[in-house]
Order: sequence, then structure tokens, then C-alpha cells
Amino acid sequence: MNDIKTENELKKQEEITDMLKDILYIRYGNRQPLAFVHTYGCQQNVADSEKLKGMLIKMGCEMTEDKEQADIIIFNTCAVREHAEDRVFGNVGQLKSLKKKKPSLLIGLCGCMMEQQHIAEKIYKSYPYVGLVFGTHVIHKFPELVYNAVTSGRRLVERGFDDGEIYEGIPLRRDGSFKGWLSIMYGCDNFCTYCIVPHVRGRERSRRPEDVLNEARSMVASGFKDITLLGQNVNSYGKGLDEKTSFAQLLKSVADIDGDFRVRFMTSHPKDASKQLIDVMAENDKICNHLHLPFQCGSNRVLKQMNRRYTKEKYMEIVEYAKSRIPDLSITSDVIVGFPGETYEEFCETLELIKEVKFTSLFTFIYSPRVGTPAAKFPDPIPHEEKARWMSELLKVQEQIAAERCAGMVGKKYRVLVEEQAREGVLNARTQNNIVVELNASTELIGTFQNAEITEARNWILRGKIMEK
Ligand code: SAH
Ligand code: SF4
Ligand code: F3S
Repeated sequence: MNDIKTENELKKQEEITDMLKDILYIRYGNRQPLAFVHTYGCQQNVADSEKLKGMLIKMGCEMTEDKEQADIIIFNTCAVREHAEDRVFGNVGQLKSLKKKKPSLLIGLCGCMMEQQHIAEKIYKSYPYVGLVFGTHVIHKFPELVYNAVTSGRRLVERGFDDGEIYEGIPLRRDGSFKGWLSIMYGCDNFCTYCIVPHVRGRERSRRPEDVLNEARSMVASGFKDITLLGQNVNSYGKGLDEKTSFAQLLKSVADIDGDFRVRFMTSHPKDASKQLIDVMAENDKICNHLHLPFQCGSNRVLKQMNRRYTKEKYMEIVEYAKSRIPDLSITSDVIVGFPGETYEEFCETLELIKEVKFTSLFTFIYSPRVGTPAAKFPDPIPHEEKARWMSELLKVQEQIAAERCAGMVGKKYRVLVEEQAREGVLNARTQNNIVVELNASTELIGTFQNAEITEARNWILRGKIMEK
């Protein structure tokens, strides 16, 4: 890691930010420019957008939720499935009329999609009103990119390369005030054969434990009650750091910080999930009893084709151990249906695994071929309609499991964090094991811990009432 290099780079960006304050103020008619940032995709992108917002605010911008009003519009895009990309193209298409009405509007596209050459080229060719295209590797240079775009008046594409550096100290504006994300590492080295993430996010690199802990301490001090440690594969945290450490150790150190808060993490890769991690979870009250452990598929042959590097048996072993150590553990997962070459019999092994584990909830995806990944070249004879039928079969199984779990929770008491208004008079609260409960309560309670009793389960929606402390 090269601290001097990254510090100097960020200093340069700060100087450019200062210049931009005046430049943008004048460009937008002697007033504070309004900026709009929309995020697609996963929490890594949400965390990156919090940096973009932090930098925009330092440039003198005010954030707006209304893109019609905005002077600067940034879409932070996701490439994980075709559907995600189609949504971005559709939404960028709608910006054309805004640019026509306001020629000074700066439209920027960034994020994972832009790290793919064919996409960046398509945007450049087909969407002439997009002024700035930049990838995930150059996000720390955002002020310089804005500066170049507005002073040159030319369209700019900057896709950089993965320099393997971590830029500590980029300005950050978190979206929430009591629930927040904390990146502990970036990139991914696993190269699952279906996945674009390692191609667009670069190599795995971990932040130093003291940098993570300082950020966690400052979040707790400023009132955060629910912190999620983030990485594509948190279990391999620490690889490449001078100091020998592990994710289990880091998690424990975060939990040891004084204060009334809870900590969770995602994503755990089953190949690296250790018993030590489960022990740390079992022994620390502040660590949520929630494990997001994507299994993707229940067939060992398909898992091998996916390059996941674990078997169904290994997966079940860690699940059994975790359940035995943590009685109220909630396990969630990601599943891919219809991987190239998967047969119906193999899909049925996925159903069996779901019935065995009894997940709290599942994120389910039909396989989507990604340009440049090995699986995109595998023979894929099953038509989409058939995969969609498999998917509905899977969802039925999962709904049944969720309904049974919810019914079993009625009458029990939980400490919940009140998170948001669901509708008039009804708030959503979350148990530490990640189950949402609806409460009749006033919005003043948002951001506080409460004790609640579950009064009713309607399929997989739980209702509860607040109890006296
Ligand atoms: N790093 C995490 C997942 C990141 S992507 C992990 O390894 O678990 C989130 C999820 O998207 C994946 O778990 C997978 O289920 C799904 N996914 C990724 N690529 C996909 C593709 N090409 N088609 C369908 N689903 C995909
Ligand atoms: Fe993609 Fe696999 Fe890395 Fe997860 S671990 S981001 S699924 S390559
Ligand atoms: Fe999408 Fe990039 Fe996340 S591809 S899922 S936003 S890492």
C-alpha cells in the first residue's frame, strides 16, 4: 500500500474541489448547484454513492431527490444481470429531454457497467447527451473528472485501471443517520464463472483494521445503531495486509466498541466461512444472529461448474455448526436458477437444500449471461420460460417456509430497531436477526431500539406491539 501516493492524490482532488466550488457556482447562474445521484445494484454501490455525494457537497452542491430540478445527474450503475443494465439504459434514455431543456445539465454515468468496454462504447455512441462516463477504479478522481468535463466542454470517458490502492479519507455523506454501511474491503478474487463483479471491481484488497475501527467508532459516536460491515467476501478479510488478522478478529473488535449498537456483515462466502467466525458471533451480543451465506445451487456438479469451491456437504456442515451454536440464527442466501447446463434434477437438489436449511429469506435470480465471463460460453439449452417455471416452484417452497417461521414467532418478544414508516400509522422495525416487524407507533420512535411482542403473522408479514421497557 502506498500511503504517500494516495494522500497526494486526494490532496490534489481537494484543491480541484475548491476551484470547482466557484466554477460550478458561476456555471449555474450564481447559485448553489443541485445534484442528484441514483444508485443501482448492491450495497458496495450504495457505499460508493455516499462518497460521490460527499464529494459533490464539498464542491458546493446541494443534494436533491428531484432529477427535474438537478444541474448534475449521476447514475451509479450495476452490471450483475442483464435486467439491471436494461433499467439503466431505459432511465438514461429518459434524460434526453432534460438535457434539451437545460443544456448546462451535466449527466454522468459511473459504476460497474462503465468498467465494461462494450458498454462504455455503447453509451458514448448512442447517448450523446451523457457528458461523463467513469468506472469504479477512478471514483477518487471524481472532482478532477467533473472539472475536466465542465472546463473542456467535451465529453469524457475515464475507465482507469485497478491500481490496487485504497484511498482513505474520501469525503462521505451517509444516507442514513442510525443505520449504515461500512466497507471493510473492495473487489473480489473469486471469479465465479457466472459473475461480472471481479471483472468490474478489480482485485480484492482489505482496509487496515485501524481504519475500519476508527470509522466504526465515529459512526457509533454519532449515533449509528446498526452497522453492516461490507465486502464481496468478508471471510477472506485481511489477505495481503502487513498485520496478520482475520474477519472474525475484526468483527470482534468492532463489537467491543462501547455503545448501544449492533453490527452485521455481508457477504460471507461459504468456502471461507470459519467455525471461529461462528464462535465470535455466538459469544458477542452486539453481533447480529444473521448470516447471509449464498449457496447459489444445491448440486455439486453445478457448484463445480460455477467455480464456487465448496460442496453441498461442506455448506451444510457450516450451517449445522452455526445453528447449533446460535439457536435463533437467521440464515439468508442467494440462489441462481438455470445456470447453463443445469438439469431439472439438479434444480431439485436446490429445492432440497432450501427445505433442509429453512432460510429466513432468499434473493433469487434466473441466470443471466455476462459478456466476458466463462459461463456465458457454456451451452445453455433450457429455455427461459422453463427456468421461470422452476423459479416459481422455488418461490412457492420458500414462501411456505417463511410462513411457518413467521407463525412460530407469534407471542415471542424481540428487541427491534425502528427503521422507517411503512404507511400511515405503521412503522417497520427489524429484529437483530433481520426479520421485519410492523408496529403501530409514532414516527418519533424511528431510530430507537424498542421491545416488541409479535401479535400476528400474515403469511410472511409480522405485526407486533411495543412493550413497556
Ligand atoms: N459476493 C457475493 C455476491 C455478489 S453478486 C457472493 O459471492 O455471494 C449477488 C448475487 O447475484 C450473487 O450471489 C448471485 O446469486 C447473483 N448473480 C451474480 N451474477 C449473476 C448472473 N450472471 N446471473 C444471475 N445471478 C447472478
Ligand atoms: Fe461474484 Fe463470486 Fe465474487 Fe461473489 S464471490 S462477487 S459471486 S465472483
Ligand atoms: Fe452490481 Fe457492481 Fe454490486 S455489478 S451487484 S453494483 S459490485
